[in-house]
Amino acid sequence: MTDIGSSATHPTAPGCPVQHDAVSLSGLEYQQTPSQLYRELRRERGPVAPVLLDGDIPAWLILGYAEVSYVTSHDEVFARDSRRWNQWGAIPADWPLLPFVGYQPSVLFTEGDEHRRRAGVITDALEGVDQFELAQECQHIADQLISSFAGSGQAELVRDYAHALAMRAVVQICGMPTSGSDTQQLVDDLRMSLDAAEGDDPVAAYTRVGERLRQLVADKRQRPGPDVTSRMLLNSADLTDEEIVQDLISVIAAAQQPTSNWICNTLRLLLTDERFAVNVSGGRLSVGDALNEVLWLDTPTQNFIGRWAVRDTQLGGRLIRAGDCLVLGLAAANTDPQIWPHDHVGSGNSAHLSFSNGEHRCPYPAPLLADVMARTAVETLLERLPDLVLSVEPEELVWRPSIWMRGLTSLPVQFTPVVM
Ligand code: HEM
Repeated sequence: MTDIGSSATHPTAPGCPVQHDAVSLSGLEYQQTPSQLYRELRRERGPVAPVLLDGDIPAWLILGYAEVSYVTSHDEVFARDSRRWNQWGAIPADWPLLPFVGYQPSVLFTEGDEHRRRAGVITDALEGVDQFELAQECQHIADQLISSFAGSGQAELVRDYAHALAMRAVVQICGMPTSGSDTQQLVDDLRMSLDAAEGDDPVAAYTRVGERLRQLVADKRQRPGPDVTSRMLLNSADLTDEEIVQDLISVIAAAQQPTSNWICNTLRLLLTDERFAVNVSGGRLSVGDALNEVLWLDTPTQNFIGRWAVRDTQLGGRLIRAGDCLVLGLAAANTDPQIWPHDHVGSGNSAHLSFSNGEHRCPYPAPLLADVMARTAVETLLERLPDLVLSVEPEELVWRPSIWMRGLTSLPVQFTPVVM
């Protein structure tokens, strides 16, 4: 049995997984400053807090840096296959978190040797991406997007820039052209299935994504190219076509939203914080500093669901039952007062947990590729539109109502119109 962090034990009621002091996460998604909330929760409940997910389903939110590090580096105790969950009997068919938690035969839910096999293929395929070429491609996509609004003197950067750029870049490294109606349909369907808006049919969109990627895999079997899909097919681990389709969906989904939110959150910081002068040429701190600070303070994946306990154990003074669900509180861990005792979160290093940790962490070299995309997106925009400013007051910017992803609903800007 393991106990990290707090020494006080808060026993679970026998036979009942619901804790008397559990906090409902529903409603908290409207919090604009979740770091405060995490600090309060940690102070009142300790580094491992009992929480209720949608529909009052119990889980544990891991708030401590040491505890998240421990959980993610002990997958023999805290495993990834969600079929281990002791709550499946209570989960309705239309449960909103099902798309993230429901078992799929992809790399995300595999364990042990099978996970190493699947993740190894992804790592090898991503290692083949030339970072210089990726930067050039991102710059090209950035220029195309900027030219579509440059003449108007205004833009909404979440939808018209960051989201579109990250999606096109990721689709392109997987071997599809960045333009064309086929690619546009895939981009739209991915957006709908990952981030459905009112009136969207995410299930139908997800089915079309699967069909399109099946077609891509079949095409690349015939005519391999210098892309991630072809490298996955040619890998000696001999994944089946269906395994590759599943893992491509995971790669695209895992890459797009966090990278696009990383771009937006960094632009927001640059445009609202005087330490980063709006005009990059006069800036005291660099775009690189801003990208890194965002990973500490406004990390795109705030909370990640999750891990499932393999057996009864203890963590942070709590008794965790076999099959309990643990949510990785990555944002809370990054701002843990145990590592930042003076209430000030520094950002001079990259020891944050934004890419998680351990066997299932965001696979090397994905964080490097995300950095190339985000850095190129931010730098190109600031170079092309050097007098870019927010067109609303900073306090008017609204964070999306989600406890999972940290991103803005919109980022409206204005600048002197240019012809590109
Ligand atoms: C090129 C861009 C990216 C790619 C291709 C990518 C790919 C992936 C993949 C395939 C996984 C699943 C790993 C596994 O289960 O073994 C993953 C997990 C993850 N990624 Fe990324 N990712 C990208 C960007 C990002 C960014 C920008 C962030 C946040 C700043 C991020 C944060 C995470 C986190 C938190 C996980 C969960 C790890 C866990 O289960 O502990 N990723 N990523």
